Amino acid sequence: MLTLKSMLSAGAFGLLALGGTLHTDAARAAGDAKVGARVYAENCAECHSTKEGKNKKGPSLFQGFGRKAGAVGDFAYSDALKASGKSWTEAELDAYLTLPKKAIPGGKMKFDGLPEAKDRADVIAYLATLK
Ligand code: HEC
Repeated sequence: MLTLKSMLSAGAFGLLALGGTLHTDAARAAGDAKVGARVYAENCAECHSTKEGKNKKGPSLFQGFGRKAGAVGDFAYSDALKASGKSWTEAELDAYLTLPKKAIPGGKMKFDGLPEAKDRADVIAYLATLK
C-alpha cells in the first residue's frame, strides 16, 4: 500500500536524483522557461499581462520576478498583499503559487494554485525571463 510517507519519500528521492544532474541553482535550473510559458498561457495569462504597465485582473508581471510584492503603482492590490512585506523570490513565488490563499490570507488572487512542483518551477523560470 502506498502511504503518504512513502509517496513523500519517493518524491524527495526523485528531486534529489534530478538535482544530482544539475550544476547551478537547483530550483531555478529545474524549471524550464519554455514549458513555463505554456503553463503561464494556460493558468495566468487570463489575469496577468507580461507587458510593462499593462494590468488586467492582476498586475503586470513584467519584471515581476524578484520585485517587492505590491510594487505596480497603478494596480489596486489587496491590503493583505501590500502588507505582506514579501519579495518575489523563487521561494516566495513557489509558496504563493502553491496555495495563494494560504500564502497571503485575505489576498485577492482568485486562483487555486498549481499543485505540481514542476509546473511551479517552470512558470517561475518563465517569470524570470520577463525583464
Ligand atoms: C483569476 C485571476 C488570476 C489568475 C488566474 C492568476 N492571478 Fe496572479 N494575481 C491576481 C490578482 C487579482 C493579484 C493581486 C492580488 C492581491 O492584491 O492580493 C495577483 C497577484 C499576483 C502576483 C503578485 C504580483 C505583485 O506585484 O506583487 C504574482 C507574482 C502572481 N499573481 C502570479 C500569478 C501566476 C504566475 C499565475 C499563474 C500560475 C497567476 N498569478 C494566476 C489574479 C490572478
